[in-house]
Amino acid sequence: MASFDPSQRDGFSSRFGVIAAAVGSAVGLGNIWRFPYVAGENGGGAFLIIYIGFILLIGIPVMMSEFAIGRRAQRNTFGAFKVLAPRSRWSLVGLMGIIAAFTILAFYSTVAGWTVEYLVNAVGDQFAGKTKEELGVDFSAFSSHAYRPLIWQLVFMVLTAAIVIAGVKNGIEKYTKILMPLLVVLILVVCVRSVTLPNASAGLEYLFNPVWSDITLNSVLMALGQAAFSLSIGMGCLITYGSYIRKNNNLFSTSFMVASADTIIAVLAGVMIFPAVFSFGFEPDKGPELVFIVLPNIFQTMPGGYIFAIIFFFLISVAALTSTISVLEVVVAAFIEEFKISRTKATLIAASSITVLGVFATLSFGQMGDFEILGKSVFGLLEFISANILLTFGALLIILFAGWRLGKANFFDEVTNGGTIKQPLFKVIFFIIRYVAPIAIGFVAVASFFIDDLL
Ligand code: TRP
Repeated sequence: MASFDPSQRDGFSSRFGVIAAAVGSAVGLGNIWRFPYVAGENGGGAFLIIYIGFILLIGIPVMMSEFAIGRRAQRNTFGAFKVLAPRSRWSLVGLMGIIAAFTILAFYSTVAGWTVEYLVNAVGDQFAGKTKEELGVDFSAFSSHAYRPLIWQLVFMVLTAAIVIAGVKNGIEKYTKILMPLLVVLILVVCVRSVTLPNASAGLEYLFNPVWSDITLNSVLMALGQAAFSLSIGMGCLITYGSYIRKNNNLFSTSFMVASADTIIAVLAGVMIFPAVFSFGFEPDKGPELVFIVLPNIFQTMPGGYIFAIIFFFLISVAALTSTISVLEVVVAAFIEEFKISRTKATLIAASSITVLGVFATLSFGQMGDFEILGKSVFGLLEFISANILLTFGALLIILFAGWRLGKANFFDEVTNGGTIKQPLFKVIFFIIRYVAPIAIGFVAVASFFIDDLL
């Protein structure tokens, strides 16, 4: 650590900047595109309860561990384990994180590109007068088109790279500070519209009323995977961001606020979507197409729908962008520090190689549609490997590292800012980190091997 000069390192300049960037990372397609349909397919309110349980029991402790590891090491995900556990195999966890960044961003940028296409369609009033069948045909024609989705994916990756090249303070922090408050306002606007539609209560009941008979072991695994994915934990994204957090920041309250904001926004996404879906007599469990077929159909029938469609696809694009920058930053920070290259060079190499993998994810909806591995398309496989396998094992290893390798004294020192602030819940948190969370994650991970309908 001695050879490293922390004053040279880029970092967040304010407390609000940390929150904006971390909430920006957490709130993304996972909240607005994935959470509603996964909850819809897995018991609605019952899923929500299990999900919130995982956020509290596993999400916050892992998030806090990631911030603590990053801030203590003052390094990227890969380097952090080398600094804190020299000459050990722990840096493989960092390597796993870099691989997860590639797999996540590859499939994520496919959907992020779609949201931009739909924003453009909304502006051009393209949904007007179409039936659900026609909108379904439109969606499959677009997603399987030879180059349109690729162009949007490329545009999205270029935007992401442009912000990352500008740096942590002048890029990531600067943009998330503007975009996140805007996002919250827009979500609230759409929520108000949705809950004031006729028969909106049916959607709210669906979201909040627990149907325990719909819960299977698979839903429990999905809830854990979704919680990790949504909080951006389990692959070192928050180790990287943690390394940019100033020494006087309270990591517990930051983690608590970020996790709460993320969960509230996931629930609000459900409030945006389900009341509208029920109000217009649709089925909620529509899978990933919920956002791209059912919603456009609803927008074109509802009063003010033209404007709300634009707002919705704009907000989902923004949410995706503040998340993709955080994933790209994991790889960029590692390249800068491990290969000693400039930020610009690191970003260009990382973004272009991820885009190459992403092209296969996008093409798996079209030209490569018949190409399957383990019964899944390239997109499906990347999503499954990252969200369910890499993040689950990553979260397990990270929390084991924080609880057992970093050492209680070091961890205490980091979360109390060298003993200068009180951390009244420390004992409880550390007990969860040492025992409860690893056992819970381990149990779900092992159980997942026995579910045969997964692979
Ligand atoms: N959390 C983001 C979402 O909900 C996606 C994301 C960003 C992510 N960074 C991550 C997921 C790191 C896992 C790990 O859309």
